[in-house]
Amino acid sequence: MANSVTMLKIKTFADYQNEYKQSVENPEAFWEEKASHFTWRKKWDKVLNWNFKDYDVKWFVNGKLNITENCIDRHLPTKGNETAFVWESNFEDKPNRVITYQQLHDEVCRLANVLKSFGVKKGDRVCIYLPMIPEAVFSMLACARIGAVHSVVFAGFSAASLSSRIQDSDCKVVLTSDGSYRGDKTINLKSVVDEALETCASVTNVLVYKHTGASVNILSGRDIWWHDVVPQSSDRYEAETMDSEDMLFILYTSGSTGKPKGVVHTCGGYMVYTCYSFLNVFQYNPGDIYWCTADVGWITGHSYITYGPLLAGATSVIFEGVPTFPDAGRFWKVVDKHKVTHFYTAPTAIRALEAAGLNYVSPYNLSSLKVLGSVGEPINEEAWHWYNKNIGKEKCPIVDTWWQTETGGILISPLAGITKTKPSFATLPLPGVQPLLVDEKGNEITGNNVEGNLCIKFPWPSIIRTTFGDHERCKQTYFSTYNNLYFTGDGCKRDENGYYRITGRVDDVMNVSGHRIGTAEVESAINMHADVVESAVVGYPHDIKGQGIYAYVIVPSTQKNHDILRKEIIAEVNKVIGPIAKPDKIQIVSGLPKTRSGKIMRRILRKVAEGEISNLGDTSTLLDPAVVEEIVKTRL
Ligand code: WTA
Repeated sequence: MANSVTMLKIKTFADYQNEYKQSVENPEAFWEEKASHFTWRKKWDKVLNWNFKDYDVKWFVNGKLNITENCIDRHLPTKGNETAFVWESNFEDKPNRVITYQQLHDEVCRLANVLKSFGVKKGDRVCIYLPMIPEAVFSMLACARIGAVHSVVFAGFSAASLSSRIQDSDCKVVLTSDGSYRGDKTINLKSVVDEALETCASVTNVLVYKHTGASVNILSGRDIWWHDVVPQSSDRYEAETMDSEDMLFILYTSGSTGKPKGVVHTCGGYMVYTCYSFLNVFQYNPGDIYWCTADVGWITGHSYITYGPLLAGATSVIFEGVPTFPDAGRFWKVVDKHKVTHFYTAPTAIRALEAAGLNYVSPYNLSSLKVLGSVGEPINEEAWHWYNKNIGKEKCPIVDTWWQTETGGILISPLAGITKTKPSFATLPLPGVQPLLVDEKGNEITGNNVEGNLCIKFPWPSIIRTTFGDHERCKQTYFSTYNNLYFTGDGCKRDENGYYRITGRVDDVMNVSGHRIGTAEVESAINMHADVVESAVVGYPHDIKGQGIYAYVIVPSTQKNHDILRKEIIAEVNKVIGPIAKPDKIQIVSGLPKTRSGKIMRRILRKVAEGEISNLGDTSTLLDPAVVEEIVKTRL
């Protein structure tokens, strides 16, 4: 059965149409056949149990497996010496690291043994707070190998954010490094972990990888250097037997209210779907070199750096740096150097590199490229055309992949070279995915050339299973807005040919440089500043970031200079969340537009932030219309 996952690949548009039809008419038979291409220790008793009302979804019921056996062991007989990953450092003159499938196996097993020696058991949670180095992938897989649940936290989040994530899921161990490099910056990650752990009683051990050589505190009994224990450990570890529905990982993501929630994915369905979607969307062939520029701290890194490509036995580039270091040609230089065939990035990076100019593109030979991908936010037409013309040389299909942390894998996207593309359209659903558009009341909007809120009416194998520790929240957030539907939170158009175009969030979630940030989270961080009485945050169109963060802040007659105040507020947000949530604009106001019942009218604040002040709509329900005049007058 080794490598038979490549048989999952659709080859023509007619195949796609046929698979799609089968997947809707008989989803269970469809996914049963797909799942049969993987290595299971015990076959499932039933393909699917589902209920969107009380939200309960189980795929491949009672099936037993270990995902790492499918990511690694099954490839060893044929691909042991082939490259799983090539690592490209932040610094271009640093040598690459090449990790074969056999080496990946050995590293993962060593680390699995170390985790076991820390007393980590099946079901325990392990936090991973690492830069983009191969050890981040080893860590995820080592957890999966022993049946521990990983919770990767993006290494740009602050100590406070890290701490609340560790606490929420009661992590026992943290895997981190002394520091990280991002462009010309060096960050001392260990000190962030130290600060976070002051408020996390559950953590018994911290394993520290030496990467930057920064001096760090080693707390005796708790902190252990990676190089003191990992290389000496056995490179064998018999993978734990997991149930299809055992938790594989938790990944925290922002919503429109409250703290970030821990989205839970489980082993069986996630494995089948990430592999199936990877192979089909990218049309990866043996010998291709795939590069996804995301960070493993986000879902894209989980599904399309770690799991999907490894399940498919692919060769990938892992990149530690940023697109603009040492200059805006870095991505193209790396493509040239490693002869990358599949390149997957975010629109915000494309826009930033477009702005830098073609002088950064032209020195490099990009002829190895076959497929380009986009993810994380709507790609505007201009960026799409620039990408197509200057990077793909009009020869590479662009797969505009729409999906979410909660969906686990790509749901709407062209299949490279198979689906006819259309700029800024994610085009058609993958087999097994049944999208529909609804109006505000939840009535289905049928026909084409229509617009509505995007829902999905049938489960796919990698759908979110729960939000960690709070199933009710999962039910409320995704399955209660509309009866019997999964609600995505996105607005969407369907054109005359049935192609989907995602227009952006319809809730209070912003999408800043492809990162999801809840307005409520930023507001609560701003409100931590002692001088701030109240704040309201909205997104506004931003040339590079897609959306920027606009904050209205009430500060009562302070003596402080407003520029100093703004700097302090930004520092507060950095401290509470991290630099990604830092407001781009802070307008100091004396009041916020509220209804008589005290609700902030965000619609008005959004319009002012967007600069659409000529038509603010109905303001008659406002408690104090004069507030609006002031806000318009002092807008930034
Ligand atoms: C947005 C990222 C338009 C969308 C994988 C979604 C997109 C949110 C696209 C999820 C796309 C993602 N076109 N919008 N191709 N891909 N989005 O959870 O608003 O970080 O709801 O997952 O990003 O963000 P998340």
